[in-house]
Amino acid sequence: MQVVTTNSELRLARNSLPEPIGFVPTMGYLHEGHLSLARRSKEECASTVASIFVNPTQFGPNEDLSKYPRDLERDLRLLASVGVELVWTPTPEVMYPPGFQTWVTVEELAKGLEGASRPGHMRGVSTVVAKLFNAVGPQKAYFGQKDAQQAAVIRRMTKDLDFPIEIVVCPIIRETDGLAMSSRNAYLNPEERQAATVLFRALSAAQSAYKKGERNAETLLRTMTEIIHAEPLAKLQYVSCADYDTLEELETVRGKALLSMAAYVGKTRLIDNFVIG
Ligand code: PAJ
Repeated sequence: MQVVTTNSELRLARNSLPEPIGFVPTMGYLHEGHLSLARRSKEECASTVASIFVNPTQFGPNEDLSKYPRDLERDLRLLASVGVELVWTPTPEVMYPPGFQTWVTVEELAKGLEGASRPGHMRGVSTVVAKLFNAVGPQKAYFGQKDAQQAAVIRRMTKDLDFPIEIVVCPIIRETDGLAMSSRNAYLNPEERQAATVLFRALSAAQSAYKKGERNAETLLRTMTEIIHAEPLAKLQYVSCADYDTLEELETVRGKALLSMAAYVGKTRLIDNFVIG
């Protein structure tokens, strides 16, 4: 496995890899969720490139950029164990040289949900992913359903900007008690770790109500809200029942819908979602 930092090193290494190339962008501190994307790429592509870059432009001023967990050596070991051929670890200076001022903005899809709670976040994501795509030039790129809005925004951007890349969205990998794997789970103390299953429990309750025939979005949202409120360590930021494609809030669930939420457990902000219908 080759590890490179600059754009020119990346280009050289990438051009000697057999195609199709699969690409797995990450911010590191890897877990089974990330590795499931790399494994899928290994199955489907001749070579797999991963990137590790904690992207400053997708963090708000009061967010956890400086505290974001990092362990490059462990990440590289894990990627090597999956058989990844090339890892790109650009520095902030490589990604955002002095004078940087060009942004990629996906308009409507980025407005609600995470976009509403984290101003500038989606613009930071779409911009860095566009830059990563241009530098790596993969045929396929792998994203997790864990970040449902991110996946929708990237899919839209890829189409709108004519990137010749197929976007593959992979299922959420969970701990045995249902908690969606996340690098940020490392922030949770044991008590918070137990409480953190509340997101999964709330989504599961709404899903079973849906399966029993409930189609009223307000009722599904209330089901989720009540369960979060019953957990003293959790503080709900938003719940949503949105159209799967447009991410517009629904009154009635008719087709495919995205149930999603963000909640603080202690000081840690967690997100999770289920697709229904
Ligand atoms: P990061 O949070 O490191 O996640 C990298 C990829 O792993 C994303 O596509 C994310 O959806 C996926 N992922 C995370 N947890 C997962 C889980 N439990 N199951 C399945 N997939 C999971 O998302 C980012 O980084 C950044 O925004 C990035 C796209 C790299 C741009 O900076």
